Amino acid sequence: QKAVGRYNQLLYLRRPLKQSFMLTLSLVLLLAVLFAAWAAFQWAQRLLEPIRELARGTRAVARGEYGERLAVSRLDDLGMLLQSFNEMTERLAEAREAAEASQRLVERQRAYLETLLENLSSGVVSLDPQGRLRTLNRAAAQILGVRAPERLIGRDIETLRRGNDTFALFIDQLAAQLHGADEECHIQLALQGKEGRKIVMCHGVRLPTGGQVIVFDDVTALIQAQRDAAWAEVARRLAHEIKNPLTPIQLSAERLRRKLLGKLGAEEARILDRATQTIVAQVEAMKSMVNAFGEYARQPRGEVGMVDVNQLVRDVAELYRANAAGARLELDLAPELPKVRADADRLRQVLHNLFNNALEALGERGDGWVRVVTRGSADGEAVEVEVSDNGPGIPEEMLERLFEPYVTSKSRGTGLGLAIVKKIVEEHGGTVWAENRPEGGARLVIRLPAAR
Ligand SMILES: Nc1ncnc2c1ncn2[C@@H]1O[C@H](COP(=O)(O)OP(=O)(O)OP(=O)(O)O)[C@@H](O)[C@H]1O
Ligand SMILES: [Mg+2]
Repeated sequence: QKAVGRYNQLLYLRRPLKQSFMLTLSLVLLLAVLFAAWAAFQWAQRLLEPIRELARGTRAVARGEYGERLAVSRLDDLGMLLQSFNEMTERLAEAREAAEASQRLVERQRAYLETLLENLSSGVVSLDPQGRLRTLNRAAAQILGVRAPERLIGRDIETLRRGNDTFALFIDQLAAQLHGADEECHIQLALQGKEGRKIVMCHGVRLPTGGQVIVFDDVTALIQAQRDAAWAEVARRLAHEIKNPLTPIQLSAERLRRKLLGKLGAEEARILDRATQTIVAQVEAMKSMVNAFGEYARQPRGEVGMVDVNQLVRDVAELYRANAAGARLELDLAPELPKVRADADRLRQVLHNLFNNALEALGERGDGWVRVVTRGSADGEAVEVEVSDNGPGIPEEMLERLFEPYVTSKSRGTGLGLAIVKKIVEEHGGTVWAENRPEGGARLVIRLPAAR
């Protein structure tokens, strides 16, 4: 009975019991599943972490940042991978550093070379193996009168040759030499530019990498100075050798005349008279020539003082006003002209020679004029004196050698006048040049450094 009661009780509780067991079991199962999912997630996270780290590192490398270090948190295969990645970026960073250092070195060398080239007083021109212009330094541009050197860089030699300026002339004359088989060439070129003739000494070298370098110097002044020195020496000797016998010749002729004139017949006396007069006159002419030579060869004495060029011009002009044979003398003197440090006597000689030439060129013309203009240069560094006239102008073929001794178009000229002018002006650190005015007549300009 008791057992049946218990059974019935249990039977009665069966359903709720079953339900409660089911619930508990489901709950446990759910918890187990949740835990498994969480564990799996955690595990995946741990696995993914180094890969994410690697991806971050790769992105940094792609951006060019080699300084990034990846955190190595484990010692397995993935940890090793991160370690290797770190080593790789470290080496890359080192390699890049080295490359940058050598790049900087190359840049520095290049800049140094460029400064060197730019400040060299010699001209340097280089051509690449294809014959294109690669370098043209400042001195080269200056010697060759190139205005914008940049615009010529990269042009080929054939194009450069076709231009019509000094540079084209230079390349043209060089081209023949450059195509020769020689490794090196030394040549002297004469270039006719806007500022007169230039003598250029060139050394060309073929580069081992192909192409050529040409180094050149403007030796015009040097050659001119050598020529001037040679002339001065000739002048000194001539003056010395010729002057000594001239006086005895003159005296002897006069003595012959005095002694014999009274003793000869009329016809002979006339011949003797004419002959001795010719001798005396010619000897006189020779003496003045020799004196001019002596003047040319004279060493500067150095009585240097502050000279007012305007005053000097006025003084000299005053002397000529009286005997200018109909030519008008016009002065256009700049007020407040700086003074120059000079030997006044020597400068006066310069003006005399220029006035003489101008007046001689005008001859007997009625409407002739000589104009003297003085002016200070724009920068205040120099004083210019310009003597111009409206005569026939300087013969074209003489312009180039005008300032050399013995260059004359006059039957009784020594050709020393302008040589002396040049010598004196250069002794004073100045320059002189001559040109024909487009309207006719000559213009001579001297430029002297202003005194400070
Ligand atoms: N103003 C000028 N107009 C035209 N020709 C000139 C002028 N000045 C110089 N010349 C030319 O230059 C030449 C050289 O002049 P330079 O003074 O050196 O010698 P010169 O005058 O011939 O000789 P010297 O001076 O001994 O009389 C002259 O013969 C002349 O042909
Ligand atoms: Mg003269």
